[in-house]
Amino acid sequence: MPSVLFVCLGNICRSPMAEGLLRRELARRGWSGWTVDSAGTAGHHEGEDMDPRTAAVLRRGGAHYAHRARRVTDDDPVRFDLMLAMDGSNLQALRRRFPELSGARLQLMLEPVGGADVPDPWYGGPEGFEEVQGLLQRALDAWLDRWEATPPGG
Ligand code: 4NP
Repeated sequence: MPSVLFVCLGNICRSPMAEGLLRRELARRGWSGWTVDSAGTAGHHEGEDMDPRTAAVLRRGGAHYAHRARRVTDDDPVRFDLMLAMDGSNLQALRRRFPELSGARLQLMLEPVGGADVPDPWYGGPEGFEEVQGLLQRALDAWLDRWEATPPGG
């Protein structure tokens, strides 16, 4: 079954938001059996819940889930068909760590909508989290269009 891992720096803001939004969308569509998870390239927030500003956005959208931040592990490229990095620096860190991973299996989150970075909302206010939600939702819609034809790993 398809599996997707979202990756950001801390695994408390952007990647858990993407995870919640995709989980909601899969449930809506009745696409069962998918594995969806998120992780961070850094470990400063390991074991923590998601940022309350991400939780607030997800709760409003009916997309909240129980989260515990974790770091990317060596077996993530084995466990997941596709890793989606939130920004260029996350992507670079993953490419350095897993040089054998094909470009198709490690991509930028916003690749289908232009390939910009998802800005890190950590230092800003709640409006930054709303902006991130909009970007992630637009990109997920585009990814889901692709996955309808060819799911990750398919
Ligand atoms: P995230 O945001 O990578 O989207 O989870 C951040 C969270 C924490 C930090 C940076 C970015 N930090 O520096 O602690």
